[in-house]
Amino acid sequence: MIEGFESFAERIIQQLELVLNQSDVPDPLLEAMRYGVLNGGKRIRPTLVYLSCDVLGTDLVLADKAACAIELVHAYSLIHDDLPAMDNDDFRRGKPTCHIKFDEATAILAGDALQTLAFEILAGETLLAADTRLSLISELARSAGASGMIAGQVIDLSAENELIDALGLENMHRRKTGDLISTCLKFGAIIAGADLQTREAMHQYGLALGLAFQIKDDILDVTGDEQTIGKPIGSDAGNEKSTFVSVHGLEEATCKLNQRLVEAKAALEPLGSRAKPLHKIADFIIRRNL
Ligand code: IPE
Ligand code: IPE
Ligand code: MG
Ligand code: MG
Ligand code: MG
Repeated sequence: MIEGFESFAERIIQQLELVLNQSDVPDPLLEAMRYGVLNGGKRIRPTLVYLSCDVLGTDLVLADKAACAIELVHAYSLIHDDLPAMDNDDFRRGKPTCHIKFDEATAILAGDALQTLAFEILAGETLLAADTRLSLISELARSAGASGMIAGQVIDLSAENELIDALGLENMHRRKTGDLISTCLKFGAIIAGADLQTREAMHQYGLALGLAFQIKDDILDVTGDEQTIGKPIGSDAGNEKSTFVSVHGLEEATCKLNQRLVEAKAALEPLGSRAKPLHKIADFIIRRNL
């Protein structure tokens, strides 16, 4: 959990419990879906959805399903990311990965089901106007889709065993991680009905923050403590991945991380003092050791 933002994490866990309490889903599919979502995690993405709504003065009740949808897509992406055909990792959030705990077919299908569930709950959120729901669905489909997160994952896999250049690396990270994180901020702005300038500020902040998040993830794969981060250290090197550390070295990667933090905070200028909690969470993302 993120220090100072625990109430958002507690709220999302309760909401996810409700969403995953489905009577008509067969086991072990339901069990695997619940495992992939409820087995821990920092809950950064839903926290960003709630926080952006809060900062823009919107009731969090309106953000519950949107926050769940993002976390479901994120959980699905992790289940698939760990599969033998992708990063082949056995350990996540301090526990066996979904395909180890269950089996590969169940893990693949649980990921598929979590993704469709995300869109089902967004479409069915009657607390939001139909055009707001449509905007959220379209934004999530774009950022998690074939030119967003999935494009990033495809580039990530094709860049194994060969070093891509700095621009290619940044493009890969923006897509595989930055797009979904910036969607969290956009979600807040859409739900709050924010003006164009605020939307754009949130978007730019989210892009810089998302890139920073993945740079830090790359750094933690080298410098992190396995017990604390709950996933294997050295997985990237083992898979000969192109990362900010393998391409730029640890020192330069850290420098680039700090640059993104400055950029993220600068993007929030139009929000004035309302942006303070968003600065705080950006600081956490840079400093985190988990
Ligand atoms: C891990 O994301 C995958 C990346 C995009 C780097 P998180 O670090 O947010 O994973 P959890 O949800 O906290 O486990
Ligand atoms: C994962 O990136 C990105 C997505 C799941 C979209 P990584 O492969 O670096 O994430 P971890 O380190 O396994 O959590
Ligand atoms: Mg990966
Ligand atoms: Mg991975
Ligand atoms: Mg990683």
